[in-house]
Amino acid sequence: LKTEALSALADAGTTKDLESARVRYLGRSADLTEIKKGIRDLPPDDRKAVGGASNRATKEIEAALAERLAEVAVSEREERLRAEAVDVTLPGVPYPKGSLHPSLRIIDEVVDFFVGLGYRVAEGPEVETDYYNFTALNIPPGHPARGMQDTFFLDDGLVLRTHTSPVQVRTMLSQEPPVYIVCPGRTYRRDSDPTHTPMFNQIEGLAVDKGLTLGDLKGTLAAMARHVFGEDVKVRLRPSYFQFVEPGVELDVSCFVCGGSDPNCKVCKGAGWIEMLGAGMVDPAVLSEAGYDPEEYTGFAFGMGPDRMAMVRYGIPDLRLFFEGDLRFLQQF
Ligand code: PHE
Repeated sequence: LKTEALSALADAGTTKDLESARVRYLGRSADLTEIKKGIRDLPPDDRKAVGGASNRATKEIEAALAERLAEVAVSEREERLRAEAVDVTLPGVPYPKGSLHPSLRIIDEVVDFFVGLGYRVAEGPEVETDYYNFTALNIPPGHPARGMQDTFFLDDGLVLRTHTSPVQVRTMLSQEPPVYIVCPGRTYRRDSDPTHTPMFNQIEGLAVDKGLTLGDLKGTLAAMARHVFGEDVKVRLRPSYFQFVEPGVELDVSCFVCGGSDPNCKVCKGAGWIEMLGAGMVDPAVLSEAGYDPEEYTGFAFGMGPDRMAMVRYGIPDLRLFFEGDLRFLQQF
């Protein structure tokens, strides 16, 4: 019986096999256990011999079992490590990668350009008070110009800012002149079609100093247009109107796709020029409202739409593509 048990243990290759061998040879209904149970029924002379032999057999089997268990544990562990081994030299699985959004590319280029000129980047809240969005910009309550802004009104006299121009006022109130800032940010209007989305980006600019003129405005924006759209781009100013500037202008850039000469050009539609942004000399009323002396300081301001600029530069027909986060769209830029 002992020999059989020992050879079964030697043959058992896994912890599980060893456990069944233990149950079979040492368990409650194992032959050896039965023998021990039967000892008390034996004639007294035989009890000692049988008892001693069966105890020795038990000890030997237990010792062999413990030894085999230790051996098997080692080999099972090695086996597991082999199976779980990771080849750290294999190349990783790349995550799908996005890319910079076309609007963000324009914003970065424009902001970089102005930072290079010494402008500071300023920010303001997207939930704005009626005062900063309108009144301080020379658009008093009840003024018809308010109705043209497609404003999202919130409770308590708050609005979603319809432009980044309130940052002009906040900046002037927070510091003394001279001021040179650019302010990229999100703006909101109740408007939705292929070329308008309720949320869109603007970049505001404001310069206030002694002796600034419309010539400074034009030269600055011409340099910006060359930086973003190419060295050959020309600009022109057209008269326009915004309540917070006087005079107000719109800036066009010459069509950088067809050089301004192709009547079938898709970008400028044969006009030779592309409307780019609104600008003007800061209205003295706005300077005064912000606590600056309009006799001493003059300034110019401008506001542009980087989403629109990206559509023009990359030939994107539908603004709604900008907001879908589709990698097939984004990876093209
Ligand atoms: N805030 C104007 C708009 O959103 C743009 C602008 C900014 C015009 C600064 C003039 C000066 O239409």
